[in-house]
Amino acid sequence: MNDSPEPAAHYHDTVVRQFTLMAVVWGVVGMLVGVFIAAQLAWPELNFGIPWLSYGRLRPLHTNAVIFAFGGCALFASSYYCVQRTSHVPLFLPKLASFTFWGWQAVIVAAAISLPLGYTTGKEYAELEWPIDILITLVWVSYAVVFFGTIGIRKIRHIYVANWFYGGFILAVAVLHVVNSAEVPAGWMKSYSAYAGVQDAMVQWWYGHNAVGFYLTAGFLGMMYYFIPKQAGRPVYSYRLSIVHFWALIFTYMWAGPHHLHFTALPDWTQSIGMLFSLILLAPSWGGMINGVMTLSGAWHKLREDPVLRFMIVALSFYGMATFEGPMMSVKTVNALSHYTDWTIGHVHAGALGWVGLISMGCLYYLIPRLFGRKQMHSIAAIELHFWIATVGIVLYIAAMWIAGVMQGLMWRAVNADGTLTYTFVESVKATFPFYVIRVIGGLLYLAGMLVMAWNTWMTVAGGRAVRVVVPTPALARA
Ligand code: HEM
Ligand code: HEM
Repeated sequence: MNDSPEPAAHYHDTVVRQFTLMAVVWGVVGMLVGVFIAAQLAWPELNFGIPWLSYGRLRPLHTNAVIFAFGGCALFASSYYCVQRTSHVPLFLPKLASFTFWGWQAVIVAAAISLPLGYTTGKEYAELEWPIDILITLVWVSYAVVFFGTIGIRKIRHIYVANWFYGGFILAVAVLHVVNSAEVPAGWMKSYSAYAGVQDAMVQWWYGHNAVGFYLTAGFLGMMYYFIPKQAGRPVYSYRLSIVHFWALIFTYMWAGPHHLHFTALPDWTQSIGMLFSLILLAPSWGGMINGVMTLSGAWHKLREDPVLRFMIVALSFYGMATFEGPMMSVKTVNALSHYTDWTIGHVHAGALGWVGLISMGCLYYLIPRLFGRKQMHSIAAIELHFWIATVGIVLYIAAMWIAGVMQGLMWRAVNADGTLTYTFVESVKATFPFYVIRVIGGLLYLAGMLVMAWNTWMTVAGGRAVRVVVPTPALARA
């Protein structure tokens, strides 16, 4: 009989390390493009007359880079890390996990080349042409196999709630991508949507809104449920609430898409359903936010000492802000003012910079030292600095857009006693100029914070080494 102990199993963290580092890299790139297009809106001549530097081509590059490259890499990294730790097993099919990394980077590079060259389907957040769509599908199915496979071989009976959110995000994004990207190829980089007219618009905004709900929300809520309790050293405030939160959120989000199509050719009752479900959505969104924030109860003092925790908790307050504002903007009378204005852009970035950006950064600050065998990041002062310049940047950005948006809406609808318009469109553009400049300043601050993070990451990684973490044995796991 052989009494020698089985060799210890290790978590597969190479892929987590790769995604973590690339999240920082793509964050810098995506935000740099964001600042550039923000500057172009203030000073249009910055396109230098070069087609591939034109605003129309760089705008989708910005959205794809920040959402799918920066946000995507942070989601892959954090979900692979969390699912292994909460299941007490290494990743299922690590080679496939490695394929998801290289495949996703290939998608990003293909986007970075094809969008400036002008190849686009014209569908927002789904601009990439059909050959890239196929690669996305392959990567995403592989991601689902690795993630759910790891859950399938888990040693812990219970499936921790963060994995429900990550799992919901992975499944929903698969369905959204496949349905909305159904298209008829008409050449290597040209296709036509499988849908037409108002159906096409409805499918697109069912996709668009659920991209917000599942990609920009559910996935990051998975992050919240794992990394906030870890960083705070406290259990989730209410586990029961987290389960109600999950089911209520995923059920409600699916119906809210028509609020993007108010006052269009979409049947009126459909728009009203979209509005109704958006209003209902306030409840699960705030329930989840409160659950996250209250996880700190009894440990509020940690907010003063720990800048990483501050990133996470302030992210939640911006989440609360965006999910209060969203239902309000979905009310038809409010939307009649806000639609087409910069108010929408302010709302987007309250969610994007405040929620998605800050929670990702907090999570990356948690991961980097642990993945590279360091006790903490190279410089805590740099994390503090990052936190403050990012927060001031967000406030400048969103306050400028709110004021500009309400002003535009009021100017466009102002009429004289004889029924003629009080302002020409160009007058509203001129009035918006100072706010666009303030946004550039806010964006520059946010980008500067990201550069500080990149430096801090470099210094941490350079002084560390990739560590192999042993998977706890079943006996330990029960302890
Ligand atoms: C330095 C930071 C950033 C700056 C300066 C910036 C700037 C901009 C600008 C100028 C636009 C176009 C607005 C317009 O068309 O009027 C835009 C759009 C957008 N950005 Fe950003 N951005 C930044 C970061 C981010 C991040 C981190 C995310 C997501 C995680 C994000 C998500 C989006 C989205 C979704 C849109 C499209 C909004 C819509 O169509 O309504 N941005 N951004
Ligand atoms: C309860 C939750 C939310 C509701 C009900 C909601 C509702 C809305 C409404 C009514 C609009 C304006 C549609 C229009 O007039 O065109 C909008 C736009 C948008 N929201 Fe939200 N929102 C919510 C949360 C969020 C969050 C947390 C984020 C980001 C992380 C976000 C990202 C966006 C984006 C990217 C757009 C612009 C879409 C586009 O036109 O390109 N939303 N949302």
